[in-house]
Amino acid sequence: MNEADLRQSMSELAASLFARGHAVGSAGNISARLEDGGYLMTPTNSCLGRLDPARISQLDSEFRHIGGDKPSKEVFMHRAVYRARAEAGAVVHLHSTYATAVSCLADVDPACPIPPLTPYFVMRVGGTLPVVPYYRPGDAAMEPAIHDAALGTRALLLANHGPVVSGASLTDAVYAAEELEESARLFLLLRGQNLRTLSPDQVRELLSVFG
Ligand code: 13P
Repeated sequence: MNEADLRQSMSELAASLFARGHAVGSAGNISARLEDGGYLMTPTNSCLGRLDPARISQLDSEFRHIGGDKPSKEVFMHRAVYRARAEAGAVVHLHSTYATAVSCLADVDPACPIPPLTPYFVMRVGGTLPVVPYYRPGDAAMEPAIHDAALGTRALLLANHGPVVSGASLTDAVYAAEELEESARLFLLLRGQNLRTLSPDQVRELLSVFG
């Protein structure tokens, strides 16, 4: 997708996430890889509901700010994911309510707190969701921890903060972030009940067909 279309698409998808309450205030940030190897990133303290396509931050291939407004303070988070995942074309970080709620649970499996309840969790999110320990928002120290976790997964949860999801395209990353939010909601709705999850064979089949 060319740069102008990507700016437009980022603004529209961000507004859609905001309109449905997956982002509030100035929370959340989104980035996408440009055809020239650089990146677009939402500006720091911007509202995802009201992005101006022309003011979206532009970064070079080393994540240096080269145009638009000052980029998100979470540039280290995004860089960690791109450096770990060559196929990543976009990264979405939200404070969406249910995924963030799961990120605050102490008594879950930190390797994957949400079990494979539905096919679309496995297909879109990828079936793994490690919880990365808490770091202050914008802390560069999070980069190695996120990088290491992202080597094995498209999506992760930052403890007590929220989800970070990548995708081959911006649309893929947004769809995966939405699916993760719904999966977290289902998981919390069903918590304490006797669950039938997908079996390991069913998960393997989904990953081999759609992974
Ligand atoms: P920015 O406004 O710098 O993008 O930060 C928002 C956020 O979600 C922090 O995690």
